[in-house]
Amino acid sequence: MAIYSQFLSAVAVLLQLSTIHIAYAQQVYILAGGPSPRPQCPASYDNIPATPTYKFSEFSFTQTETYRYATSVSPLRTTTTYAPPYRKLRTLIPPLKTTTWGNWNPNDTAATDTADPYGQAAWSSLWEWAAPTEFTTTGIYSTTVSPTPIPSSELVFPPKDYFGPTDCYNFPPGFIFGVAGSACQIEGAIAMEGKGPNHMDFWSRPGQPNNYVTNENYYLYKQDIERLASLGVKYYSFTIPWSRILPFALPGTPVNKAGINHYNDLINFVLSKGMIPAVTMMHFDTPLQFYASNVTYEKWKKPILGVGNGAYQNSTFEDAFVHYGKLLLTHFSDRVPIWFTYNEPLLFCDNGASVNTVIKSHARIVHFYKDVIKGTGKIGIKLHHGFGVPLDPKNASHVEAANHINSFHLDTFWNPLVLGTDYPTSFKMTIKDYIPLTQQDLKYLKDTCDFIAIQPYTASIISPPPGGIQSCAKNSSSEYFPFCVKRQSTNIFGWNFGYRSYSHVYTTPEYLRTYLNYLWNTFRKPVFITEFGFPVFGEADKKVIEDMVYDTPRSNYYLSFMTEILKAIWEDGVDVMGAIAWSFVDNWEFGDYDARFGLQVVDRGTQRRYFKKSFFDLVGFVRDRHPDYEQS
Ligand SMILES: *[C@@H]1O[C@H](CO)[C@@H](O)[C@H](O)[C@H]1NC(C)=O
Ligand SMILES: *[C@@H]1O[C@H](CO)[C@@H](O)[C@H](O)[C@H]1NC(C)=O
Ligand SMILES: *[C@@H]1O[C@H](CO)[C@@H](O)[C@H](O)[C@H]1NC(C)=O
Ligand SMILES: *[C@@H]1O[C@H](CO)[C@@H](O)[C@H](O)[C@H]1NC(C)=O
Ligand SMILES: *[C@@H]1O[C@H](CO)[C@@H](O)[C@H](O)[C@H]1NC(C)=O
Repeated sequence: MAIYSQFLSAVAVLLQLSTIHIAYAQQVYILAGGPSPRPQCPASYDNIPATPTYKFSEFSFTQTETYRYATSVSPLRTTTTYAPPYRKLRTLIPPLKTTTWGNWNPNDTAATDTADPYGQAAWSSLWEWAAPTEFTTTGIYSTTVSPTPIPSSELVFPPKDYFGPTDCYNFPPGFIFGVAGSACQIEGAIAMEGKGPNHMDFWSRPGQPNNYVTNENYYLYKQDIERLASLGVKYYSFTIPWSRILPFALPGTPVNKAGINHYNDLINFVLSKGMIPAVTMMHFDTPLQFYASNVTYEKWKKPILGVGNGAYQNSTFEDAFVHYGKLLLTHFSDRVPIWFTYNEPLLFCDNGASVNTVIKSHARIVHFYKDVIKGTGKIGIKLHHGFGVPLDPKNASHVEAANHINSFHLDTFWNPLVLGTDYPTSFKMTIKDYIPLTQQDLKYLKDTCDFIAIQPYTASIISPPPGGIQSCAKNSSSEYFPFCVKRQSTNIFGWNFGYRSYSHVYTTPEYLRTYLNYLWNTFRKPVFITEFGFPVFGEADKKVIEDMVYDTPRSNYYLSFMTEILKAIWEDGVDVMGAIAWSFVDNWEFGDYDARFGLQVVDRGTQRRYFKKSFFDLVGFVRDRHPDYEQS
């Protein structure tokens, strides 16, 4: 039998070499003989006789079960502001008209204000141009629902899993714990109250579910927040769709009053419940205006780099995104302490120009926030990347392949944006049209992330592609292009390296700890886990809610990851500033309602939400170990 083992000494080596972007093998296979050790068993057990003594006794139902209720977050005792309010900041952005538009109905051609380039008729024609297939508005709600208190019967903790955490660490004061969702996946109401069309409204392929209605969170946001507060969640991470704020997307076009009001209400409601908001500006939902006239073709064009075409390479995108970012910051940064410019940008980068747009627009927004507004919150960019670890850590070419993919995903953004150094070789040797960075660029880009925001759902096992990395990087028709490594989920003995979920997520908590070490020592900023989660295998096939909410594999995932986070903090000295779980509720997962990442189930017929067991387990784990939460 072989076991995995992590060598902390390798981490110490990393510490010394961290300015060089190379990781040496951090895991090895060691053959262990004999039975598995049981370090928890005290020596006194050695004296127990080999054969037990059997006896009769009187039977009674003596088993007891303790139960607890979730405790809601306490109200904020003081109001903190992180920037001046909008009325003081409004002069920092060009004067803009604020308008309201109605709801789009494909049958309604009544608008007559055709002379106004941004009137109701112009707005409706955006939707006619976009032409969503089988468009429907048939949700249950059409106006904001007032929240009602969550009955205590819904707040009873479920039975604990028999095997659970055995750690003794606590979270440091200020450790951020929260849950996340994203607008395009939960809001619905895609053509309501002035929202313009965006990329995600058109992401589903024919025959796949779309997001036109999804969780109706646009109307149910208060109830959703009420539920989170009742369970005891402190931070709520949400996204704002550009096309709800600026339906015509571009600088100079009018602002949607209903959009501003909506997110003002949402933020204020979060604060009123004692929670703290975190905002993402771009979550794959590029306004459709950035695609040329053949929208169908453009939006589905296979990019060189990502999985979709986010139109970041469009030369008008950068200025327009910076303008939109400034609009959000001037309106909301007084009350929002945590900002993210982009979510997982590489996934929607087409080519080298896309990456250029992302890093430059990010830096311009951060400079505006820090230098002009003088915001005192924190801001960064969220990258997705499951840590690449070598299949055979003793094979130098496997280690090189792991370094290659890790640097491609991470250094491409954080070399310039954190360290102020050039793009990595992995990116430059592959993406021939990359736009070189000047010394002046690097000076401006450097140090524009307050934290390393990573979404480390799982790890992946890496080895070189057939023919090697170099030849693949030159061959864009190679099936391994552009990342040019072989990824697998089985170790050298053919075992999956963790429990598999519905999709490509495996429960790999020990690799998370290694990854946290890697990130902290490479980029030397606090590491912020801004998404992580587990779509339990077969959850959508379960027939009844009681089974759907009993999600032990998700509890295992979260509690093991949280345990490893604590070890990274206390045993390795890694500054992990927080962890945000994805997602607070089952949602539209890009053409799918079956990949259930949620901590709550949704009855799609009634929109009723149900807390899953893992939600209690996760919140309970944090609250039992967190000095900032009142223990009651
Ligand atoms: C538009 O009209 C058609 C035909 O009358 C109808 O079936 C459809 O439901 C209408 N669409 C909306 C969004 O009202
Ligand atoms: C780029 O975006 C602009 C809107 O700013 C749009 O008019 C144009 O068609 C887009 N170009 C391409 C090539 O997609
Ligand atoms: C737009 O692109 C799609 C997909 O390539 C194609 O089927 C369609 O014919 C194009 N439409 C026009 C008007 O060019
Ligand atoms: C190292 O890995 C490469 C690529 O998988 C393989 O060709 C080579 O034989 C391995 N070397 C050793 C010493 O195992
Ligand atoms: C590039 O990759 C394709 C697909 O694997 C292969 O058919 C082709 O021979 C490769 N070209 C070169 C120059 O290696």
